[in-house]
Amino acid sequence: MRKEFISSVSHELKTPISLVQGFAEGLKDNVNEDKESKDYYCDVIIDETKNMEKLVKDLLDLSKLQLGKFKLKKEKINLIDVVESVINKYKKIFNERAINFRFENNSREIYVLGDELRLKQVLINYINNALNHIDERKEISIKITKNNSLVRVCVKNSGNNISKEETEKIWDSFYKVDKSRNRKYGTTGLGLSIVKGIINLHNGHYGVINKKDGVEFYIKLSIKE
Ligand SMILES: Nc1ncnc2c1ncn2[C@@H]1O[C@H](COP(=O)(O)OP(=O)(O)OP(=O)(O)O)[C@@H](O)[C@H]1O
Ligand SMILES: [Mg+2]
Repeated sequence: MRKEFISSVSHELKTPISLVQGFAEGLKDNVNEDKESKDYYCDVIIDETKNMEKLVKDLLDLSKLQLGKFKLKKEKINLIDVVESVINKYKKIFNERAINFRFENNSREIYVLGDELRLKQVLINYINNALNHIDERKEISIKITKNNSLVRVCVKNSGNNISKEETEKIWDSFYKVDKSRNRKYGTTGLGLSIVKGIINLHNGHYGVINKKDGVEFYIKLSIKE
């Protein structure tokens, strides 16, 4: 497993490093070129370093999770506030991309014992995935529901179903269904394995359900009275 891990990390770093190197050399060779192409060269370098930064941050989280060193700051928090604050951050992106967004929720307060930042990280992972896999209908919905002692939050996007075999594999690190998407979106296949680790530390549940017109990723947490 360790060999596979090292090979995946090296593979993920290979492309951004060559791009940064190539475009930096290009900048140096063409110092007198027009501003537009200089900007383009710089943008590529900035994007690629951002990708590498994200990869390293995710790897650090994952390694802490695997070593049992991932510490949660658990507090009694209102999950509705947490979800709403994440949604507010995405409103601009949803608008810009003309996403048909729906938020379904009937409660003002549902408390859980959790780490606010980490739960936000989980939701952000789900929403980014939804944005990356959305189809031309461009629908995303987030729903909060209560069932006895559990609260469930789900993020659904219109798009292709995930095969049964893959619904299990996607929670493993570096697993991507469509490898070619990776470059386009700057993703590495670590997001859901981090979601899994964070939700396990909350003694919660996570999963994905194929729907008629899309896929729905959810988490379930115990309600704290
Ligand atoms: N909403 C979705 N619809 C279809 N497939 C999905 C969806 N979310 C995740 N997947 C599949 O699961 C894989 C793993 O997801 P995960 O979030 O772990 O990695 P990633 O998004 O590829 O990269 P990262 O999150 O590390 O940037 C994705 O590459 C994709 O194939
Ligand atoms: Mg992801």
